[in-house]
Amino acid sequence: MKFGNYTEFDKGFYQQSLMGPSAVMIIEELVKRLRLTDHMRILDLGCGTGLTSIFLAKEFGVKVFATDLWLTATENYARIRAFGLEDKIIPIHADAHELPFAGSYFDAIISIDAYYYFGTGGDFLDTRMAPLLAKDGFLAVATPGLQKEFGKHVPGLMKPFWADEVNETFHDLDWWKTLWGRSEKMRIEDTFSLACHKAAWADWLECDNPYAKSDIEMMKAENGQYFDTFAMVARLK
Ligand SMILES: C[S@@+](CC[C@H](N)C(=O)[O-])C[C@H]1O[C@@H](n2cnc3c(N)ncnc32)[C@H](O)[C@@H]1O
Repeated sequence: MKFGNYTEFDKGFYQQSLMGPSAVMIIEELVKRLRLTDHMRILDLGCGTGLTSIFLAKEFGVKVFATDLWLTATENYARIRAFGLEDKIIPIHADAHELPFAGSYFDAIISIDAYYYFGTGGDFLDTRMAPLLAKDGFLAVATPGLQKEFGKHVPGLMKPFWADEVNETFHDLDWWKTLWGRSEKMRIEDTFSLACHKAAWADWLECDNPYAKSDIEMMKAENGQYFDTFAMVARLK
């Protein structure tokens, strides 16, 4: 399967590596709105199996710090080596709340389908993200969310699939804009819904993965009414 100009994934490898709606479709769309150049050092935060890190290194020749919590650096290093990208991608096992990097180290932080797990706290942007960015550096996040906040009124159709922790992490774009709008260190530069939302989910639901299988019923019930995938870009003030 071809993404961008240079990234080719074998279909089996792609399907085995997905951890949710296609991270590769999402990043392919997101990077069209970013200005990436080959001298950049990028933190891919919550990179999962590193598909997005491979995409960034292959398409733009950037240096990527592929950082994740659930997957070990060793697992990701094996994939990085299989693509011959060990000089471009550095695998790191770390929690987004305790990142082991020097201040002002990155030109950009990119986070696909992960930021909602760790970034909903009021001070996360200013205390954890901004300090890592070099002058003019930016954070670009693509996240699943809601078309409109549910608040306490989770629609009946969605109740069987909903847990309190989802309520805390799944929000609409206005919720995120309000959160980021309070930042003293970053200014929002761009926000948009991703056109690939439906297709990215369709690729995920096709995977032979128990989590994908359990999402099928949820997406049938949802039927395009409630979910969205959107991107937000903020730059250091
Ligand atoms: C749904 S997966 C998506 C992975 C990948 N970005 C993708 O789109 O395929 C969410 C990822 O967020 C990562 N994650 C969750 N909490 C994290 C934390 N506190 N610090 C770093 N990564 C975290 C997990 O390790 C997981 O790989």
